[in-house]
Amino acid sequence: MEVVIYRTYEEISMASAAVVADVINSKPNMVLGLATGSTPLGLYTELIRMHKEEGLDFSHVSTFNLDEYVGLSPDHPQSYHYFMHENLFKHINIEPQNVHVPSGTTSNYHAFCQWYENRIEECGGIDLQVLGIGSDGHIAFNEPGSSLGSRTRIKTLSKETIDDNARFFDKREDVPIYAITMGVGTVLEARKLILLANGANKAKAITDAIENPVSSMCTASALQLHPDSTLFLDTDAASQLKMREYYEWIQAKKPGAPASS
Ligand code: GLP
Repeated sequence: MEVVIYRTYEEISMASAAVVADVINSKPNMVLGLATGSTPLGLYTELIRMHKEEGLDFSHVSTFNLDEYVGLSPDHPQSYHYFMHENLFKHINIEPQNVHVPSGTTSNYHAFCQWYENRIEECGGIDLQVLGIGSDGHIAFNEPGSSLGSRTRIKTLSKETIDDNARFFDKREDVPIYAITMGVGTVLEARKLILLANGANKAKAITDAIENPVSSMCTASALQLHPDSTLFLDTDAASQLKMREYYEWIQAKKPGAPASS
């Protein structure tokens, strides 16, 4: 697990976009796992810039989104289908048939979840998965108590998540109670994981994820079990880390790191 701390949200966005672009450039038909929420917006803006100005090519890339609200149709402004279309897909040269977002309106969720898992496998597995983190430590919609071996399924949202996400809806009662989400076990099978977090409201969840024992009570802590996971944090999100100075020292001593003044 690598922890990288930046001063600003912009730096997190640039650094994480560079990692995504690097994987796309080294494997043009890579499979990219995507997240929603406000955190990855800067990353998506930078990927769009790289596509428009530097020719970053998504024509052979396949994507799989982590989750979707149950009951929201793809054209609902708060659906994750809509979010991804507006904030990334419509601005890049991705082929629509290569885009996968869980369905919030299927008539058979069980069958859909199995199909989604199978589809990831058919595409060769996820090469790089982008993650955010909820203030209760969830990844995707794997709320506290989710099995660390869980697969794509329907999940009931926690009250904390409903409160957090209410800002995107007209009123709290409009926030769906259920979501369809990749499981923690599904996420852990990606070859590489990057988790982005900024802001003081993520500081406790980040500390639980990095420095406390692996636990289903903070599903982001499962990243400790992964052989290639990197967390991009701003100083606020990193503010409660006990070993913060050590992580910064590791970064400073990394081969190729800029010499300190
Ligand atoms: C939702 C999503 C998560 C995301 C989280 C944090 O719950 N399902 O994937 O990480 O929100 O969102 P934000 O980045 O807006 O804080």
